[in-house]
Amino acid sequence: MFQSAIKRIITTYNYKTLRMIMPLQVKQIHLTSGLWHGEYEWQDPKSEDEIVNVVYIDKDGKKTNVRGKVGDNILYLAHRYGIEMEGACEASLACTTCHVYVNHDYLDKLPPSEEKEDDLLDMAPFLKENSRLGCQIVLTKELEGIELTLPKATRNFYVDGHKPTPH
Ligand code: FES
Repeated sequence: MFQSAIKRIITTYNYKTLRMIMPLQVKQIHLTSGLWHGEYEWQDPKSEDEIVNVVYIDKDGKKTNVRGKVGDNILYLAHRYGIEMEGACEASLACTTCHVYVNHDYLDKLPPSEEKEDDLLDMAPFLKENSRLGCQIVLTKELEGIELTLPKATRNFYVDGHKPTPH
């Protein structure tokens, strides 16, 4: 019961903040509920068939080639490789800090965005027609070679209030 209450809080508040103020409880949930957010993305592909190559392009145009795998979440894969995609709400669809531009060849290969994602994107700075929230993109074989470009800045209204925060 205590753990389910903590999980509810975690989905409501920022995971990083909770990890600082109550590390033991968060660690306990981490150990008892299977893979925690992002753990899957730290596992290497088990076979060639699973590999999905991704290119992240930062706001200065620097490209980083990453070897992902089927099932990887774009946000957590970025974290593994040190890409500056914040993800303040830990993929709970409560911020826009995982905003990315998807290269046009791949837009139609993604599942359509849900209303909640669209509502959030409407509040994202530097919105474009190929904007998506990175935490809502999960790799499939069809996405082999996808290019994801980070915007000039993201707005972390969830944690900081309505202030654009350049990277
Ligand atoms: S990390 Fe907050 S919506 Fe993607």
